[in-house]
Amino acid sequence: LAASIATALSSSAMAADMTIGFSQIGSESGWRAAETSVTKQQAEKRGITLKFADAQQKQENQIKAIRGFIAQGVDAILVAPVVATGWDDVLTEAKEAKIPVILLDRGVDASQDLYLTSVASDQVKEGKVAGDWLVGAVKDKDCKVVELQGTVGSTPAINRKKGFEEAIAGHNNISIVRSQTGDFTRSKGKEVMEGFLKAENGGKGICAVYAHNDDMAVGAIQAIKDAGLKPGTDILVVSIDGVPDIFAAMVAGEANATVELTPNMAGPALDALAAYKKDGTVPPKFIITESKLYTPADNPQGEYDARKGLGY
Ligand code: AHR
Repeated sequence: LAASIATALSSSAMAADMTIGFSQIGSESGWRAAETSVTKQQAEKRGITLKFADAQQKQENQIKAIRGFIAQGVDAILVAPVVATGWDDVLTEAKEAKIPVILLDRGVDASQDLYLTSVASDQVKEGKVAGDWLVGAVKDKDCKVVELQGTVGSTPAINRKKGFEEAIAGHNNISIVRSQTGDFTRSKGKEVMEGFLKAENGGKGICAVYAHNDDMAVGAIQAIKDAGLKPGTDILVVSIDGVPDIFAAMVAGEANATVELTPNMAGPALDALAAYKKDGTVPPKFIITESKLYTPADNPQGEYDARKGLGY
């Protein structure tokens, strides 16, 4: 007992002594804002000093922030990488400085030995879950889909597209007729959807919108309403994240399905880091979070209420 108390004390002292840098992408979506506040809460709960850097969507700002963290000699670095490529040099610098790096919610095209672990969802699966839902919803009906992609070059945009296409492959009644980036933002989602509606006979040729995140879906819903159509009925709306606003849209009958992405990537990341710092326990390279489908049959009002205050 004495030994286990001593171990608990020393590991909590270790956490309390830690200073960690967090290079966040920005605040492009409600989900992103929630991830930021949950990460701060998770660090505070463990007595960790968190140095926070908002990159305002720019990889160069992330690289600069990471170099700053290395210069300050932080104990570890969390990074949510805005795009997949271009990380080799800075991650090598962190490795040479013996500072473990943990990736949050997005991946990188770099050697796996440049980071300790990656805490993220299976983004191909998220796209597949969304696509499977649509296949089941439209049955044999012809369905022209418009797609709002996430940030170009980001792993969720690449993988969510892939997963959705896998789901609809072989269903010749369903096809993606237009696909463009809305950069994961509500305003761009609305703007791009307005273009889709104009190009597709005022929206009459569109059966569904697949948005790579809920914020773009919420923007699209507004555009559909402005065009005089009913989102959720005239045009089905399926997206990813599970933020409170999409549950509010479900309550209003304006959204049909979302795939939840937890904003708590930091909890598992900091647990893995604590174990690694304590006795060198090497975590799995990929810690995968759940991808659960929600529809209006799943008590959207209750889901909205449950999420409000959880960092959102
Ligand atoms: O990387 C996760 C994605 O980034 C979320 O789905 C989206 O809302 C955010 O901007």
